[in-house]
Amino acid sequence: MDIRRITGAFGAELTGLDVTGPISDDLAAALRQALADHLVIVIPDQPLTVEAQRRLARVFGPAEVNPYAPGPPEAPEMTHVVKEAHERTGVFGGGWHTDLSFLDTPPGGSVLHGIDIPPQGGDTMFASQQAAWETLPDPLKSLLDGARVAHVGKPYGIRWAPPLEEQAMKRSTKRGDPDADRERWHPAVLTHPVTGRKGLFLNPTYALRIEGMSEEASQPILAQVQAHATLPEHTLRLRWHPGMTAIWDNYATQHYAINDYHGHRREMRRVVFGGRDMADWAA
Ligand code: SIN
Repeated sequence: MDIRRITGAFGAELTGLDVTGPISDDLAAALRQALADHLVIVIPDQPLTVEAQRRLARVFGPAEVNPYAPGPPEAPEMTHVVKEAHERTGVFGGGWHTDLSFLDTPPGGSVLHGIDIPPQGGDTMFASQQAAWETLPDPLKSLLDGARVAHVGKPYGIRWAPPLEEQAMKRSTKRGDPDADRERWHPAVLTHPVTGRKGLFLNPTYALRIEGMSEEASQPILAQVQAHATLPEHTLRLRWHPGMTAIWDNYATQHYAINDYHGHRREMRRVVFGGRDMADWAA
């Protein structure tokens, strides 16, 4: 397997491997190590069946059903991320976020596969929260290290529900769930159990307030941290091609689906994997 780093901060493209069929124990171990080292790993030019994508996800943890965006009955863990050419809505994931960070146990990561890709646009951006932590100014580090932050499922609840016209995939996502408005507390800083690197665990889609502070007092601080967390130096921008797969560590990155391909169709298939215990990531 060849590993080519994508940016100075993180991300790697993997070639010289085959993930379309059975995956040996050695390859699985190498993939897990590559994800721990690079946080986003990209495998080009290998169209995956649903079963192959499921098998690849299982290398990292059990495939889980996204309770707010389940897939079809025959493969409920496979969320179809689709925007049709005529749709003028927002896109699924069209803001900086870590997937479902408002759940008690957020998914450990995702395997996203490109099926129908617009001729231009539709890129996905990622931000390394380890690079962001390592360069965070000391006063913000002192404030956040050891602190907890409340996350709420704003897009899926009632209190912060976005206007109808901004909602992506209206027919296939569950909205208006009162439980999504419930605060769930997570450490603001996590330590990767394999590499020992620390990273921020915050995102503007779901993070609401810092423990001991109101939402109003927290938001300017969270906004300042977020601006730092997504500086260009901490990001990578992935240009998709059909048959490309990206796998990301959801505890150490944020991502953002760019909504700039109006008039073109985009279809991706995504599965999240679990199996992570937040206690292993305690800072
Ligand atoms: C997401 O998983 O948030 C969507 C990513 C994408 O469609 O690029």
